[in-house]
Amino acid sequence: MAQYDVVIIGGGPGGYNAAIRAGQLGLKVACVEGRGKLGGTCLNVGCMPSKALLHASEMYELANKDFAKLGIEVTPKLNLTQMMAQKAESVEALTKGIEFLFKKNKADYVKGWGRIAGPGKVAVKAEDGSETILETRHIVIATGSEPTPLNGVEVDQKRIVDSTGALSLPEAPKSLVVIGAGIIGLELGSVWRRLGAEVTVVEYLPRITPGVDEETAKTFQRSLTKQGMTFKLGTKVTAAKAGETEVELTLEPAAGGEAETLKADYVLLAIGRRAYTEGLGLETVGITPDKRGVIETDHFRTSAENVWAVGDVIYGPMLAHKAEEDAVACIELIAGKAGHVDYNLVPGVIYTYPEVAWVGKTEEALKAEGVAYKVGKFPFTANSRAKINHETEGFAKVLADAKTDRILGVHIIGPQAGELIGEYCVAMAFAAASEDVARTCHPHPTRSEAGRQAAMGVEGWTMQA
Ligand code: FAD
Ligand code: NAI
Repeated sequence: MAQYDVVIIGGGPGGYNAAIRAGQLGLKVACVEGRGKLGGTCLNVGCMPSKALLHASEMYELANKDFAKLGIEVTPKLNLTQMMAQKAESVEALTKGIEFLFKKNKADYVKGWGRIAGPGKVAVKAEDGSETILETRHIVIATGSEPTPLNGVEVDQKRIVDSTGALSLPEAPKSLVVIGAGIIGLELGSVWRRLGAEVTVVEYLPRITPGVDEETAKTFQRSLTKQGMTFKLGTKVTAAKAGETEVELTLEPAAGGEAETLKADYVLLAIGRRAYTEGLGLETVGITPDKRGVIETDHFRTSAENVWAVGDVIYGPMLAHKAEEDAVACIELIAGKAGHVDYNLVPGVIYTYPEVAWVGKTEEALKAEGVAYKVGKFPFTANSRAKINHETEGFAKVLADAKTDRILGVHIIGPQAGELIGEYCVAMAFAAASEDVARTCHPHPTRSEAGRQAAMGVEGWTMQA
């Protein structure tokens, strides 16, 4: 008889949530993690450390630029060592928290690198080189993702860094070039700009944040530009040469043309992430990842019997909360329940200032699908809480089906937009009409009223703007 019902390879949001849910459902479960800490990319080198630096750097900028207006006179001084230390402390507490949850839910944490060693077998190589075989009824692959490399730009984690390096720079750069105007580039670019760097973002496409509602992305770019970020859109980096103290980059228009050079103290390469399956032994169970390295699944089932996969290593947005949804649904299916994820309702948030948050379809997607929709929009300039706090940038926009009024998409740009999108996730999960939100009493004075006023705008009865 197998030792385990489920062995999970990878201890990130996909893996640890799968382990916890399996424990809750009474399955005998082990989670194999090689990095020495639970929490995966998200807790160790992703969501959490980046949010720690975004928060601290936002406070620094507020103290520098905005406190005086509120009648608070201070002269802030950056202590980067302390900023990094508080980040590390929070991360440590969070990863230990997952260990606690494993114990509480009777999930075994097996330290080491896992490899599928044939049907129902996972070989685990410990730090000391010893190997143990775990026998199991089901295997769940949750090995996550890694940064996508770029030809001609070699990451050395000294002068040319990826997101992991950019979370631990030894000093605030004087100048930073970010390659890729995506979520990582703009979040970490914001951190270092606030801490003193001249930030230039080089993006291949003619727009920033592809996939984000275009009107929202344009407003976002204007706002970041006003804060001092420089954008070079429609531009590709063909080479980067790192010296002792600076990097020289060669840029060209994306469509081809004359090359130019650009120098900076540091370069952050952030052009996306790719599925990570190195050394996983997929061939021993006949799984071949697709051209992009992604493991193909049907409701988390891979092509091999009783081998499942969740999170960044499969299709869908590479987000921690999506990995968590995958994990819960996958384990529920293994346990004979009806696990399900609605990928249209996976929200996205960019934790910059202002924040950008969305759920459901963009206007561009609705147009492409030929769906007739109505728009309700409300600016934060007309929201009393935003006004009183001097934070009036941005808007909330609700897209609703022209015939049924069902909410199809919501896009918010403004301070704490990430906190505002949750109510729309719930509303859309319950197939709400815009009128359902418009007729729901919201607390005053809060930014959430802007979300409600946008819903009222769908039928043209916005009352505050
Ligand atoms: P991962 O978190 O990558 O975990 C996989 C784990 O598997 C890793 O710990 C790895 O060590 C381990 N592993 C791999 N192979 C093996 C093996 N053979 N044996 C044992 N262990 C193995 N998402 C958000 O939703 N919100 C955010 O704010 C956010 N911020 C981010 C900021 C940055 C800088 C980055 C890089 C990512 C961010 N993300 C964010 C994305 C988020 O981190 C990922 O979507 C999420 O971590 C995916 O979870 P996962 O479990 O699929 O994979
Ligand atoms: P991304 O996919 O968000 O953005 C990459 C950007 O790089 C795109 O704009 C793309 O057009 C551009 N690009 C691609 N190749 C290029 C090239 N050769 N030269 C110049 N630009 C190029 O990827 P990113 O920012 O690396 O983040 C990876 C993933 O991590 C995100 O997709 C997201 O899923 C996750 N993440 C989520 C966060 C959040 O939820 N707040 C925060 C950080 C990361």
